[in-house]
Formats: sequence, structure tokens, C-alpha cells
Amino acid sequence: MNSKRNKLGVMGHPIKHSLSAVMHNAVFRELGLDYTYKSFDVIKEHLEDFIDRCKEDFLGLNVTIPHKVEVMKFLDEINSEAQLIGAVNTIKFENETAKGFNTDGIGCVKALQESNVSIKDKKILILGAGGAARAISFQLVLEGADVSISNRKQRRYMAEDLSRDIKEKLDRDVKIVDFSINKIEEELRQVDILINATPVGMFPNINEIIIPVDIIPRDVIVMDIVYNPVETRLLREAKMKGCKVVNGVGMFVHQGAESLRIWLGIKAPIELMRETVLEKLK
Ligand SMILES: NC(=O)c1ccc[n+]([C@@H]2O[C@H](COP(=O)([O-])OP(=O)(O)OC[C@H]3O[C@@H](n4cnc5c(N)ncnc54)[C@H](OP(=O)(O)O)[C@@H]3O)[C@@H](O)[C@H]2O)c1
Repeated sequence: MNSKRNKLGVMGHPIKHSLSAVMHNAVFRELGLDYTYKSFDVIKEHLEDFIDRCKEDFLGLNVTIPHKVEVMKFLDEINSEAQLIGAVNTIKFENETAKGFNTDGIGCVKALQESNVSIKDKKILILGAGGAARAISFQLVLEGADVSISNRKQRRYMAEDLSRDIKEKLDRDVKIVDFSINKIEEELRQVDILINATPVGMFPNINEIIIPVDIIPRDVIVMDIVYNPVETRLLREAKMKGCKVVNGVGMFVHQGAESLRIWLGIKAPIELMRETVLEKLK
């Protein structure tokens, strides 16, 4: 270990909501590792300067809303997955250079797998076409899923861009579904897994729900990547209906574990990380 580089952190704006510091510091305490992880509120105008300063003595950073795309232009290298996705959520600093990675997609895949949800050849509908939906769609396509996406009418072009990127980069077709109850209902009759990748239902708007549960067939597995609250209204109602559900905590924990592997080469203590996050969300 380079003893100089023991600083880690997450940067975004706003950043108060982030649970990354609590989760990572619990790992360092448990494993007796001499690292510190802090949250940094960084506005867009200070992004380049912040990255430059981190190059001096940071080991790594997580990047959150709204900088996952913007930060790419200030990095020296970007790994192939993050390049495919077009966004970075993890940076490793080495020899005064900064290299970008994206662990959101793999985090989602691992969360599904640990819930015994198989992905290969499954039909998956993703609601939303923002940063998280991008990472998830690419990774699920790489895992052999048949993905369709639906985004609000006003910004349908986000879904079109994502679909076109996947076609260009992976030569796989991703269907776009109109964001209307009828079209989504029709699509849901054919899918195995539904993933909410929008912030709808997130604290403090916990009574919001992205689609009415009565259009979701009981045999569809429902995942919500929102993790605060742990059980969103979508998951609560889908569960009551009899659907298998997967909450967003698993994805959060696994994307963090993947970052730890990149920074430190360690196999992260997943259960400790999950307990820490769940305790904080109580
Ligand atoms: N569990 C995890 O590890 C994890 C990781 C990353 C993100 N997340 C969560 O995932 C959510 C999305 O994050 P993101 O980074 O992808 O955000 P983002 O880039 O801002 O994208 C948000 C997406 O949700 C759509 N959306 C927003 N409000 C909506 C509404 N009222 N109705 C329908 N669609 C709506 C947006 O549509 P428009 O394009 O029309 O605005 C966009 O497609 C957040 O809640 C975030 O906390 C969880």
C-alpha cells in the first residue's frame, strides 16, 4: 500500500443524502484498514480543480449526481465498461493520474443474482433512461438479457440515445416503450423483470409510485433501485400482490464493494456493508 494515498471519498451536489461514507468507513473499521472516506459537496464549476487536487494524495473517489458524465473529461483514462456506459461513478488515482470506472451496472446485476434472479435470456423492462438506467441497461445486455426501456415523453430522446448507443456499441436491439399506462401494461405481459430506475418513490416523496401495481402481472419480478426507503411504495404494493421484489440496497452495497475491489483489491464484507446501510435507513 502507498501510505500516502489513504484518502477516499464521494463527491456530488448535493451530497448530504449519501450513505457511502458511513458504509465505507464501517468496512475500514471492521478490517482495521487505515483509510478515511469523506463526502465532498462539489459544484460543476469546481470539478476540474477538485480532481486535480485529488490526484496529489487521494486513492479514490465515488462520483454521484450530477457529475457522473461531466467528470469524464477531467480523467486521464477511462476503462472499457465506463466508456461503453458513458458515465463514471468510481475513480482511482495512481501516479498523479485519474482513471474512471463504472460499478453501478455490475452492482445491479449482483443484487439480482444474490436474490436468485437469473438474467440471461430474460426480458427486462427498465423505467427511466438517466445515468443509473444507462449503466444497468448496458450491463444487463452484456449479461444476455433482452432489455426494453421507457422514459417520459418529454425526454423520450434519452431512451432513444441509450437504445442507439447499445445498438452501436454492442450490436443489440433495445426496444423503446412509450411511457403510457397502456403501452407499459402491454409490455409487462411479456417481461420477466421490471426495474424502476427513476427517483419516483424516493424519500421524502414516499407516497409516489411510478406505475399502478394493478398493471403488473404477479409473475413479474419487481426491482426498485431507490433504496431510501428500503421498501418503496412500488415494492410494498407489488409484494402484497404476490410479486417477488428486490430492493435497491443490494445494488448500492454491491456497487460500493466493486469500488473497494478497484481501489484496494479486497473482497468487501458485503453483509457488514448491508447491515450498516440498513441500520442507517431505519
Ligand atoms: N441503488 C443504487 O445503488 C443506486 C445507484 C444509482 C442511482 N440510484 C437511484 O436511482 C434513481 C435514478 O438515479 P439516476 O442517477 O439515474 O438519476 P437521473 O440521471 O437524474 O435519471 C432519472 C431518470 O428518472 C426519470 N424520472 C425522474 N422523475 C420522473 C417522474 N416523476 N416520472 C417518470 N420518470 C421520472 C428521468 O426522466 P427524464 O429524463 O424525463 O427527467 C430519468 O430518466 C435515484 O433515485 C438514485 O438515488 C440508486
